[in-house]
Amino acid sequence: MVAIDSLVEEIADLRVSRKAVILAHHYQDAEIQDLADAVGDSLELARKAQSFSGDVIAFCGVWFMAETAKVLNPERIVVVPDRDAGCSLVDSCPVEQIRAFKRHYPEYTIVSYINTSVEVKAESDILCTSRNAVKIVNSIPADRPVLFLPDINLGNYVREQTGRQNMKIWQGACIVHATFAARKLAAARVEHPSALVAAHPECTGDILAMADFIGSTSAIIDWCAHQDAPEFIVMTESGVGHSLQKLAPGKKFYFLPNENCNCSECPYMRRNTLAKLRDALKNLAPRVELPEDIIDRARLPIERMLAVK
Ligand code: 13P
Ligand code: SF4
Repeated sequence: MVAIDSLVEEIADLRVSRKAVILAHHYQDAEIQDLADAVGDSLELARKAQSFSGDVIAFCGVWFMAETAKVLNPERIVVVPDRDAGCSLVDSCPVEQIRAFKRHYPEYTIVSYINTSVEVKAESDILCTSRNAVKIVNSIPADRPVLFLPDINLGNYVREQTGRQNMKIWQGACIVHATFAARKLAAARVEHPSALVAAHPECTGDILAMADFIGSTSAIIDWCAHQDAPEFIVMTESGVGHSLQKLAPGKKFYFLPNENCNCSECPYMRRNTLAKLRDALKNLAPRVELPEDIIDRARLPIERMLAVK
């Protein structure tokens, strides 16, 4: 097994020789976050991908996020450490089904969560992330019916926040956030009575009903860091604990295990490792390669999202 220090050195050398930028989602292992040029949630990384110069983007996250980076940076090489870093939400929403929906219901505005394949993005009217989903749905004229996809829990949360009734919601779910158990959260609140609860909107409604704060990955981090409370129960992927400990070293953060599991790690995100990142920079693969027409069609809904203030 190669020592972490020597891998970190190799990656540092390759970053220079490849003129690469390393972007990492908060759900990556701590050692990947520590050497990244930027750590963020999916919206922040989509924006950051555009603001760097250089030839290569090494995207330490899941494949759909790297596809988004490629759409916004078609002239750059985009690599991901592990080709199988997928997402259960992406898998729940095959593009053929969206095309069929559009044939049957052409009047619907399609709002797609960023956790979709690039082909689904290309069929969408506008994109959203967990950070801006409420704002994006509110930006659509009230008389237009909306299909929100693919996350049922985020969709239900958006419907509740916007009061929008003419909105169909896809039935996809995140295998990490949708499998937190309300009874485990209730027990944790008894065990830590002074803890506040922060939850990602991909969690089910019973978890969200117990939360003091609901927000995207970065919004959860900001909120926990700025509250006076000494402890928090954090209902999201436990990788965010790394940034939380750096920002608020005096506070305690509890991450609950999912149902049928001992952890709350995303099995797709955690496929990426330092050794695979080194190999990706060396081999410039696995590489995101997309047809030009898909890039052009997928860029439009992303740009529409970024334009909503
Ligand atoms: P964020 O938009 O909060 O980064 O979420 C992405 C994701 O995959 C959550 O599970
Ligand atoms: Fe997909 Fe859930 Fe993993 Fe996020 S945490 S990448 S939504 S499976």
